[in-house]
Amino acid sequence: METRIRVVSGDEKKDNLIYEEAKEILNNGGLVAFPTETVYGLGGDALDANASKKIYAAKGRPSDNPLIVHIADLDALYKLSVEVPEKALALAKKFWPGPMTMILKKSDIVPSTTTGGLETVAIRMPSHKVANRLIAQSGVYIAAPSANTSGKPSPTRAEHVINDLSGKIDMIIQDDTVDIGLESSIIDLSEEIPTILRPGYITKKDFEEVIGEVRIDPAIVGEVKPGVKPKAPGMKYKHYAPNAEITIVEGDTKKVVDYINEEIKKADELGKKTAVMATDETKSCYGHEHVYVLGSREDELSIAKNLYKVLRDFDKDGIEVVYSESFDSADVGQAIMNRLIKAAGHKLVKVD
Ligand code: TXA
Ligand code: MG
Repeated sequence: METRIRVVSGDEKKDNLIYEEAKEILNNGGLVAFPTETVYGLGGDALDANASKKIYAAKGRPSDNPLIVHIADLDALYKLSVEVPEKALALAKKFWPGPMTMILKKSDIVPSTTTGGLETVAIRMPSHKVANRLIAQSGVYIAAPSANTSGKPSPTRAEHVINDLSGKIDMIIQDDTVDIGLESSIIDLSEEIPTILRPGYITKKDFEEVIGEVRIDPAIVGEVKPGVKPKAPGMKYKHYAPNAEITIVEGDTKKVVDYINEEIKKADELGKKTAVMATDETKSCYGHEHVYVLGSREDELSIAKNLYKVLRDFDKDGIEVVYSESFDSADVGQAIMNRLIKAAGHKLVKVD
């Protein structure tokens, strides 16, 4: 299949043609990748079971891993869910449109292929202008996972989508103004106590300010054991992953730098192609040819924004072994660390 690539230009007449073309594709059960404020999504009509099947196939994603349904207005919430608790409405009013996904009990119109067989549905109203207009103008609720091949880092640029899905989907709408760079925060409101299933830009504290007590799913951040022994890789948790073997090193900055320098040297001596994942603050501490800088610790959003690009760059550059600093603060740091731990297959070393 030929994948049409259409670039949003800001010229209203030309852009309108892009949305009309996408509308046609979506209404005929086809797939369109599009930018959101978090990452690019791979969209299909959420109420069309066949479109969801095509999404799973294009990504190579197991069909029991449910999709997020994207909406453009609050009415949709009541069509897709049979029970919208007060807390859900309060969160919707506060954080939508924006990088928050809510899990609610699904209504009958949502096919079980879209929800991976679950009785709940994930719903999000994105704030990105392209995503918002695409949903509104197409007149469909758009089921969209991240537009990457299953197991690869989520795409934050059209180039990433093209690399993964070209030839497998009908269209890619390009507008590289993806801002946040990590997937939405997911909060489950289908149970008694709201539970965060995936950390993101909107944090536990943000949620609690609106609805009170919120739990964090314990599976989110792997436990850190003291000592220098790496944790077991835990391959089944490996997502967002480049081909390189990543080890995250946690502890006092000087010890982290020393440990990484030492380990990288050993790997170099084995003839491996190695790299360090560092920050503005530490980049000059590594006497190494390949130091990939994520951003500044003073500005965690810059790190979030660059993480997936850097993970993909490792593949592009043929890197085999990576040592990374860790990010374990509250707020967005928790979301960064959650993705990084998965990319590293839970290989975490503590050097305090
Ligand atoms: O920012 C985002 O959320 C992006 C953009 C495109 O909106 N989408 C995204 O989708 O990250 P995806 O499919 O890559 O991740 C969706 C996550 C999966 O981990 C899935 O298991 C979970 O949401 N999920 C979806 N429906 C669920 C449900 N009913 N119950 C529990 N988890 C659910
Ligand atoms: Mg994904």
